Amino acid sequence: MKKKFLNIAIIAITALLLFGCGKKEEAAEDPAKEAVKVEVKTTGPTIDAIKEKGKLVLGTSADFPPMEWTSFQSGKEEFTGVDIALAKAIADSLGVELEVKNMAFEGLLGSLKAGDVDIVLAGMGADEERKKQVDFSDEYSKGKQVLLVTEENKDKYKTFDDLNGKIIGTQLGSLQHKFATEKFGDNCKGFDLNNVIIEQLKNKSIDAAFLSELPAKQFASITDGFVIIEDLGIPDESGFAVAVKKGNDDLTAAVNEVVKGLKDSGQVEKWFDEYIELSNKEAMK
Ligand code: ARG
Repeated sequence: MKKKFLNIAIIAITALLLFGCGKKEEAAEDPAKEAVKVEVKTTGPTIDAIKEKGKLVLGTSADFPPMEWTSFQSGKEEFTGVDIALAKAIADSLGVELEVKNMAFEGLLGSLKAGDVDIVLAGMGADEERKKQVDFSDEYSKGKQVLLVTEENKDKYKTFDDLNGKIIGTQLGSLQHKFATEKFGDNCKGFDLNNVIIEQLKNKSIDAAFLSELPAKQFASITDGFVIIEDLGIPDESGFAVAVKKGNDDLTAAVNEVVKGLKDSGQVEKWFDEYIELSNKEAMK
């Protein structure tokens, strides 16, 4: 009889511990934070080294809203955007801080190969040429490429071929630079920063800017007199993915886990909406 009572007591206490405490913890967690948290079980030499230094170093080129841009809203220079949020989630999953190194887009893969940065997120398309140099995670966004022109030229270019003889602005090291140079040679001008391309288009030093769709749309919505031309009869660019140094397979696997979790939960989509809106708002100020 006594034993039975003891058993019941043990069950009752266990239940209390399990459910009672479980509830409390749930209530204490911030649901917004919970959505972007992905546990990563993977370990290995690269991850151990990152944990040892206590930080994940991201290489990016912060001139590409909504993917990444430099914000001064808080009074100091800050990097923000979809890629920064995703990189932060990767750092969190490894239990380390995120350090952002901002540089020219063209230098990013060199820095990754040299080990100056651990990962690259920069609205970078995982194309075959780049895959020979570095590894990529699964894609977290599709890539389209479009033209940005000034209002008065909006009916001039129906297809990419109509740009023959025109001056096209592209970012150095980008897939757009490669594509347009192969087609039009020196008429394709390369610039380090997208902001400079935008200035060049404003003052009509170039006839069109050739960019990824989302940033082009962002620049069009925050600049008076800019129009997007889509459906140029050219293939899409490769989808965006996280670049990792070749051989750092444990890190690539961990990044893939995070990317999958955040895509499946709809968080990546949410970030796109959020950062498109934020970059519009900041530009209005
Ligand atoms: N999507 C293009 C590419 O992969 C351009 C990316 C430019 N990114 C940037 N952060 N500026 O080449």
